[in-house]
Amino acid sequence: MITETRTVFWEDGQVCLIDQRKLPETFEIARYDTYTQVAEAIRVMVVRGAPAIGAAAAFGMAQAAQHSTAQDLAGLHADLAAAANVLRVARPTAVNLSWAVDQMLKYAQESGHSDLALLRQGLLAHAQKIADDDVVINKRIGDHGAALVPDVATVIHHCNTGSLATVLWGTALGVIRSAHMQGKRLHVLVDETRPRLQGAKLTSWELLQLGITHTIIADGASGHFMRRRKVDMCLVGADRIAANGDAANKIGTYNLAIVAREHGVPFYVAAPWSTIDMRLAHGDLIEIEERSSDEVTHINGISIAPHGARAANPAFDVTPHHYISGIITEYGVVRPPYTVSLAQLAARINEGKA
Ligand code: MRU
Repeated sequence: MITETRTVFWEDGQVCLIDQRKLPETFEIARYDTYTQVAEAIRVMVVRGAPAIGAAAAFGMAQAAQHSTAQDLAGLHADLAAAANVLRVARPTAVNLSWAVDQMLKYAQESGHSDLALLRQGLLAHAQKIADDDVVINKRIGDHGAALVPDVATVIHHCNTGSLATVLWGTALGVIRSAHMQGKRLHVLVDETRPRLQGAKLTSWELLQLGITHTIIADGASGHFMRRRKVDMCLVGADRIAANGDAANKIGTYNLAIVAREHGVPFYVAAPWSTIDMRLAHGDLIEIEERSSDEVTHINGISIAPHGARAANPAFDVTPHHYISGIITEYGVVRPPYTVSLAQLAARINEGKA
């Protein structure tokens, strides 16, 4: 089953990615030999979703180490720093990308390997660990989140946060998958997610394979559905969460949160701890990626707007913390006030007590 295939994996020195630009029509694995190619694959969204691009970048760093011609440690560190600079900027909003790159740099600094071959080997093993950990973390998020889902529920989901957005399983969609596996009867209203249609193309594709009943809806239809039928919860992912709980996620998430509040529908964000950026006090400090206006004016390469029309394309928006009922992490569900609860969790994690 395709939802058992890792989105990101390493094979024979190549970084292998499910090519998400081709889904749902074609399932294809794209293979990359160098970290610059991996950075470009992240930029053009062959791979997308915060945890998935983090894992891809970690393997890209391992490639950089393997291809480095440095003869000493200082040279290898310099080559890794250069690769980090290229990978880090491929997409700016998802903090998991720079988090994974930093994890690799930290390993290189602190592993204690003075032998270059051993360090190269260790870096690949560390990238593999980042990828493996992601699967375990997502399943934990799934367990914590599933406990919040009623036995019979209608859930609205935005973008794609499933296996394809992670190494495997997913965050918000992983919660839906876990709840489904526990026997809960779910119906998912799948926001199509303009402009790239991750909902209609990718989330529906995953849900079909998982046998989870769902209906694709236009992004603007969520208010209608919340007014006309019982919607039990909204479940979304995040690309970066500030220390006060403000959460950046796919454009349109903020609108959904406001509509959910208006109708008294709980609004949950599911994300691994690596998505939480405690260095940022609030969400206005999160850099929002601006992508090509062609993504708005064209669908599958075909223009839908008058020639010469201008379009804006912020890829993400920030949902203020007061709209968020809870943040589902691998450590459990964090509740407001987030400035306090996230700081307390960070302290427990640092002390190894989480
Ligand atoms: O532009 P994308 O498709 O990379 O955006 C993805 C999202 O916004 C997801 O909701 C987020 O990365 C969380 S994925 C587990």
